[in-house]
Amino acid sequence: MATMLLAVSCGSNEPKSKVLVLYYSQTSNTKMVAEEIANKLGADIEEIVAENPYDGDFNATIERCLKERENGEIPEIKRVKSKIEKYDVIFLGYPIWFGTYAPPVAKFLQDVDLSGKKIVPFCTFGSGGLESSLKDLRKAQPNAKLMNAYGVRAARMDAMPAEVNQFLAENNYIRGEYVILENFGDLHEVTEEESSIFNKAVADYPMIHAKALMAAKRRIPGGVEYLYLAEDLPREAKGNMPPAGQMKVYVQMMNGKSPVFTRVVR
Ligand SMILES: Cc1cc2nc3c(=O)[nH]c(=O)nc-3n(C[C@H](O)[C@H](O)[C@H](O)COP(=O)(O)O)c2cc1C
Repeated sequence: MATMLLAVSCGSNEPKSKVLVLYYSQTSNTKMVAEEIANKLGADIEEIVAENPYDGDFNATIERCLKERENGEIPEIKRVKSKIEKYDVIFLGYPIWFGTYAPPVAKFLQDVDLSGKKIVPFCTFGSGGLESSLKDLRKAQPNAKLMNAYGVRAARMDAMPAEVNQFLAENNYIRGEYVILENFGDLHEVTEEESSIFNKAVADYPMIHAKALMAAKRRIPGGVEYLYLAEDLPREAKGNMPPAGQMKVYVQMMNGKSPVFTRVVR
């Protein structure tokens, strides 16, 4: 196998541009990512605040959100104080709710015109939803320039600071070293061992009840990463579950550690 490459970014992506980190967060995960990014960039930061804040309780929020979706309602937000026109690059952060950005961010995107701005999306999620949120973002702000995005599972916040560093360096926002990952190997039918690694990785996440069909793997610093093609096992249809089907699941197995999944792409 080829050796992993280290590269050094000169951080020249946005030499003189003004950067704002704008985010919504209900239970602080996205806030932690936002602060990490703002600190590393020395950027301005502001929180998007709902006029009538969502309850911190998970089930109460799901219920309110389902009702709002049924009624086609998007909740009001407090006025964003930052002068958006002053900024060239907006790092926009959100938790994934029902496969897309949380409603306060939908409201912000409805009210603002980000034409010509660079948007760098970042998000936190239980299992995934970055890719589907990007589709919505593209529709909401068709004239903005959507840049590479970063997403992390709520259960992996300990890995976040190093990942943010890698993300900012590989996209040239900061100076520093980053790893150029090798490509995944061939996608093949899962072996018994790979199937058992998949099952272990998703075992403690009740929303995933799936069977791995195919797998590919590559080395990453300190371990191995698997890409699985998996399919939902039969399950009860519920309003807050995505429709059953196939998905990609990324799993990391660091040396000496149990496997963990890092994101699901449906
Ligand atoms: C109403 C609601 C809906 C959610 N929907 C999803 C979802 O569709 N997919 C997912 O992976 N996580 C989902 N989550 C989990 C959140 O994305 C996750 O906990 C996130 O880290 C919360 O970010 P915060 O702490 O910044 O509020 C949902 C959480 C809530 C409260």
